[in-house]
Amino acid sequence: MSSGGRFLIVGGAGFIGSHFTDHLLGPGGAAGVTLYDNFSSGKEWHYAHHGADARLRVVRADAADLDALCAAMTGHDVVIHLASNPDIAAAMTDPDIDFRQGTVLTRNVAEAMRRTGTRRILYASGSGIYGDLGEREAHEDHGPLIPVSPYGASKLAGEALLSAYAAMFDLRAVVFRFGNVVGPRQTHGVGFDFIRRLRQDPTRLRILGDGMQSKSYIHVSDVVAAVLLAHARVTDPFRAFNVATGDYITVRDIAEVAVECAGLTAGSVTYELTGGRGGWKGDVPVIRLNTDRIRALGWTCSRGCRDALRDAMNAMRRELDEGHA
Ligand SMILES: NC(=O)c1ccc[n+]([C@@H]2O[C@H](COP(=O)([O-])OP(=O)(O)OC[C@H]3O[C@@H](n4cnc5c(N)ncnc54)[C@H](O)[C@@H]3O)[C@@H](O)[C@H]2O)c1
Repeated sequence: MSSGGRFLIVGGAGFIGSHFTDHLLGPGGAAGVTLYDNFSSGKEWHYAHHGADARLRVVRADAADLDALCAAMTGHDVVIHLASNPDIAAAMTDPDIDFRQGTVLTRNVAEAMRRTGTRRILYASGSGIYGDLGEREAHEDHGPLIPVSPYGASKLAGEALLSAYAAMFDLRAVVFRFGNVVGPRQTHGVGFDFIRRLRQDPTRLRILGDGMQSKSYIHVSDVVAAVLLAHARVTDPFRAFNVATGDYITVRDIAEVAVECAGLTAGSVTYELTGGRGGWKGDVPVIRLNTDRIRALGWTCSRGCRDALRDAMNAMRRELDEGHA
């Protein structure tokens, strides 16, 4: 798929951003890729292998700084906006975090687009906008939207700002409600925690909640393909897409995959369940996303949850062996 043009990736040094970078600097890729990142969770080693590529530029700055963002954005055709607080539970002790490190950043990105005349944005929203629907499958047009975490609220606010800017200022916004994204260079998430904890103590594993939380875990390569396909196809001013595998896995089953990927024998690890329906306050224990809309564009998902998680956790183990924290 051709991805021509100049891309600015806000949050580009992070996990998902590094895979967009790989793709956009690959064959038939972009004319230029700028990573704009404050390196709060982004890492230099995520893109170091592109060091000699003159199309790559890195701006170390905060998306809270609107002037710096405008300066970096000038001359780009497309913005991929990935910068936000990744930790849903952080709001328990810092209730404003998703406003400051979510809503405000998306407002700045939209405003920088208006000021610089940048027309197209691809926004990493999240399934958190739907709230807790239990076993009900969320379609993109589901309503009412009742988020149950400041993180979900901030993603929804970001979508609202982008739809408003698209209508008022002639932008084109495509927003994506991903399942849990997994793969090499992951910076957080349940598999990420399990592999680290098993390395510290291979005899026991603490599992938050009752272990029956059930969600979709999608490989980052499938996410990148879905986003760039929608970018190529969508012509509406504002369009939302769910992006998930179509299958689901419980946290307890993820623990089994983690034990296997850690090279341990099944049954040799004691699971310590903290109890309760969700892993933490604001966690939605069951998420079901309908993906007919993105599939109708011709997207197919190359791996189910178990394969995606296995690839991710094997990569994490290698990354830890190589000394990446
Ligand atoms: N990983 C998932 O499972 C998942 C699922 C749904 C949605 N998302 C969304 O996708 C986006 C990317 O997620 P990720 O997993 O790659 O996370 P990540 O933490 O690896 O990447 C986010 C990047 O944004 C940067 N950043 C954060 N605040 C910034 C700021 N104020 N200014 C500049 N840069 C800043 C970080 O340094 C990091 O490089 C996030 O918005 C996340 O909410 C992720």
